[in-house]
Amino acid sequence: MSQNNIIEVENLSKSFGKRKVINNINLTVEEGDIYGFLGQNGSGKTTTIRMLLNLIHPDNGTIRLNKYDLKKEFHKAIEKVGAIVEVPKFHSYLSGRKNLELMANLIPDIPEGKVDEVLEMVGMLNRADDKVKTYSLGMRQRLGIANALLNDPKLVILDEPTNGLDPQGMKEIRDMICNLAYKNNITFFISTHLLYEVEQICNKVAILHGGELLTQGKVADMLNRDLEVIDVHTTSCDKMISIVQSLNYVKHFEKKQKCVRLKMEKGFSSELNRYLIANDIDVEYLIPQSQSLEAFFIELTGGKQIE
Ligand SMILES: Nc1ncnc2c1ncn2[C@@H]1O[C@H](COP(=O)(O)OP(=O)(O)OP(=O)(O)O)[C@@H](O)[C@H]1O
Ligand SMILES: [Mg+2]
Repeated sequence: MSQNNIIEVENLSKSFGKRKVINNINLTVEEGDIYGFLGQNGSGKTTTIRMLLNLIHPDNGTIRLNKYDLKKEFHKAIEKVGAIVEVPKFHSYLSGRKNLELMANLIPDIPEGKVDEVLEMVGMLNRADDKVKTYSLGMRQRLGIANALLNDPKLVILDEPTNGLDPQGMKEIRDMICNLAYKNNITFFISTHLLYEVEQICNKVAILHGGELLTQGKVADMLNRDLEVIDVHTTSCDKMISIVQSLNYVKHFEKKQKCVRLKMEKGFSSELNRYLIANDIDVEYLIPQSQSLEAFFIELTGGKQIE
């Protein structure tokens, strides 16, 4: 067990009635991670997060937060954790500041000025005295994050923090998360169904599918594996296919409209180019395709798409 694991989940399972919704998952989140918990609708993200926060109880498995067993040492485990699960609820007729003050009153020994500090951290100081009912969804989400920051968390767990926001609002929340992670050393565990979001801000990702964890690891490793994809544009696609099949570094080929897409071992593109030219293939150009997390996801799930 590493020294700086902030979430450790072992063999976690949960059923509702007869239906197994989470099937024996293991997760490890280290301090400093912005950890993406990626899965389609209904894959079990919220259920897992609710278990992480002790809002519902697993049928099996253990959860340790900040090294403390959530079941046995709940208060210590949750002490430095902030969270938003689904839509944060506020008194809409009170100001953002007043709402936070009410929440702050529930936290023992909270330092004076803390409410202003968290409002500043989420960029909401200038609207703090307006009633929440005048806030946009993005502003409510910021207020929710401010609320999650009141207890000086080391770990913040957010369930789909950009859900329902427009592209600009999404970007603002993403930028804010990166900033908080960087400036305030906060570890984030964020569920999302958006691959793009993971690619933008997460250093690690776990992919949940039908309650099972397909994989977890560094986003960079998933995007930069041993194979690369190259589109070869040529007018002699069929001839080219017939000759590349014998190359042992070419693992897969697919005829596209005006090119052949090759999946091949990394580092062989010049050799391929020379080989094609030597065999009278009129190579117009070779275009390396960036391996997206989407492609990786589709490979893992056997083609079941995710947006
Ligand atoms: N309290 C409950 N009782 C019965 N079934 C539930 C309950 N909560 C969740 N489920 C079921 O568990 C499965 C996982 O739901 P969950 O809300 O965890 O998915 P999710 O990944 O958060 O989805 P979404 O992206 O739509 O938020 C779904 O099939 C859901 O219907
Ligand atoms: Mg959910």
